[in-house]
Amino acid sequence: MVAWIPDNKIKEIQHTADIIDIISETVLLKKAGKNFVGLCPFHTEKTPSFTVSPAKQIFHCFGCGCGGDIFRFIMKQNGLNFPEAVTTLAGRYGIEIESQQISPAQQRRITEKEQLLDINNIAMLFFQSVLKKAQSSRKAQNYLAKRGMSEILIDKFKLGYAPSGWDNLLKHLNQKQISLSMAEKAGLIVQRKTKNGFYDRFRDRIIFPILNPGNKIIGFGGRVMDDSLPKYLNSPESPVYNKSKSLYGLHIAKSVMRETQTAYLVEGYFDVLALHLHKVNNSVATLGTSMTDAHVQLLKGCLGSEGKVILVYDSDKAGIKAALRSIPIFNQGFLEVRILVLPSGYDPDSYIMEFGKDLFLKIAADALGVIPFLIETAVKKHGVSVEGKIHILNDLIKPLAGLSDNIVKTLYIKQLAERLGINESAVLEKVKTSSIQQGNRTLGQSRAPFKRLPDIIEGQPKNSGPAATEYDVNKGINNRIEVQLLKMLLQFPEMAEEIRKKKIIDLFEDQSLKAVGKIILKHDDTAKERITDILIQVNEESQSNLIASLLLKEEVWDHKGCQRLIEQFTIRHNRHQTDLLQKIKDAEANNDIGLVTEILQSKQNKARQSDVLRRQN
Ligand code: GTP
Ligand code: MN
Repeated sequence: MVAWIPDNKIKEIQHTADIIDIISETVLLKKAGKNFVGLCPFHTEKTPSFTVSPAKQIFHCFGCGCGGDIFRFIMKQNGLNFPEAVTTLAGRYGIEIESQQISPAQQRRITEKEQLLDINNIAMLFFQSVLKKAQSSRKAQNYLAKRGMSEILIDKFKLGYAPSGWDNLLKHLNQKQISLSMAEKAGLIVQRKTKNGFYDRFRDRIIFPILNPGNKIIGFGGRVMDDSLPKYLNSPESPVYNKSKSLYGLHIAKSVMRETQTAYLVEGYFDVLALHLHKVNNSVATLGTSMTDAHVQLLKGCLGSEGKVILVYDSDKAGIKAALRSIPIFNQGFLEVRILVLPSGYDPDSYIMEFGKDLFLKIAADALGVIPFLIETAVKKHGVSVEGKIHILNDLIKPLAGLSDNIVKTLYIKQLAERLGINESAVLEKVKTSSIQQGNRTLGQSRAPFKRLPDIIEGQPKNSGPAATEYDVNKGINNRIEVQLLKMLLQFPEMAEEIRKKKIIDLFEDQSLKAVGKIILKHDDTAKERITDILIQVNEESQSNLIASLLLKEEVWDHKGCQRLIEQFTIRHNRHQTDLLQKIKDAEANNDIGLVTEILQSKQNKARQSDVLRRQN
């Protein structure tokens, strides 16, 4: 399929890369018997059904049915095609793929993202080296010192300084013979209005490189050192930088997030830095955008299903608004969220700088859950006069009605009634009416609409209900025996020879199963790396999903059982032929010539295959 990346290279990557390592970077995996399980990064779920097998080096989600090998995971997660996934992994493990094996067109497509990451890295090193040169950056060094940043932290976050002047970086990139159009695409330089050349986007600013969880630089933020505007200038989005899917500091925070199952979510670069300075290392920031469900998926991947996120916002109205807006997104994503509103006039940076880590952790421990936060916000806003209470009730009804867990709902209704000194059943009554009016929509759906992840599986319970049901590989497949035969072929390759001889796969009715069966049969039954070999040959995602699911549900096979299965299939097949004959007779009796022809044609096709089978028996 990809003749231009030699097989031995693919093998080398397979041998070097470990699927557990790679997936662990974004999904919190826990050992469960022979396998590891975690929350699926490809659909929203509450309980882990995403399974990774270290022995087979495959993944499979029993919730949404996705699955495959390490390359498939990289493809799906980063939206890459196969060669791109191979090159990405090769790059990570320092395995060289000679570029002459790739056609120029392919080379361009595959390496665009890598080039952008490379250019960003060159720019980061440039900004960093400028910051370290005392004479040209005294002002920047002083500014960072004034903001309390330590040397270690500056290094850890790879902070830099973009010097004043219009073309410092530009010259540097030219020296390095970097393609300027790529540098423009990366957002580092901007084309002059006259279209005559470029100038540096970042000038006389402190530079905050933004890294992805794989430690690659995807963009930058730049802050002025005085009161001029704009205070922050950020890289535009690019093929490698998507703001609504990125969190500042995640590459550093992710390991502590895993350990503590807690993340602090703040809004600014300096907030993250100040928290990390105080060793609150599980802190990340959104990048000037509001929370998206992609952010929630990303957080949840590191936190696991028991994890929680503490939103730390400035005390001002904007902070409260932002908190309110992000609640439905978390609700939808099954992630516990608490809201910490800082005392008036403070942001996370100034708070922890002034009061220290202990006090910060103390107020964070008291951070309120969503509904209590909404109650307190409403009480502050409306007061507890009779009119105030009516307003508070009105503010809270919808969020309460949107709660999917009835026990939680009841408890909060009780809490609200107590807080307002009114009768619980009155609140309950109001919530019930509202639930009916809302048609039991959730908090998430009743408030601001938001974009759903495209790959959330339709028909999956999204907010509550049972744990993800096991993905049914038989869905849409009416032939369980065929599924079973494929499973046997994969798990008990000793039978392959017989299947081949009897041309069983040719008799399959289900076309997708037939295609998968043919791929499996093409492979050496004795080769140790048979599974990975097979998965490499799979072009279609649906086939990869199917094979991974067939592999994971292991069954015990013995030779006799296998032969019985083949026999059963043959008998069934023959019976089907007889049924057809009967149908033809019936159709003839009814003078339905159209039907007769149709059946005859299909029978002829099958008879040809059946003949082959009988001759071999
Ligand atoms: P300091 O004033 O340095 O402490 O900044 P901060 O980190 O506290 O940021 P602030 O709370 O002012 O803003 C939060 C975030 O919003 C920043 O980190 C930026 O991502 C973004 N932001 C703030 N000001 C601007 C701006 O002028 N332009 C753009 N594009 N983004 C901004
Ligand atoms: Mn600040």
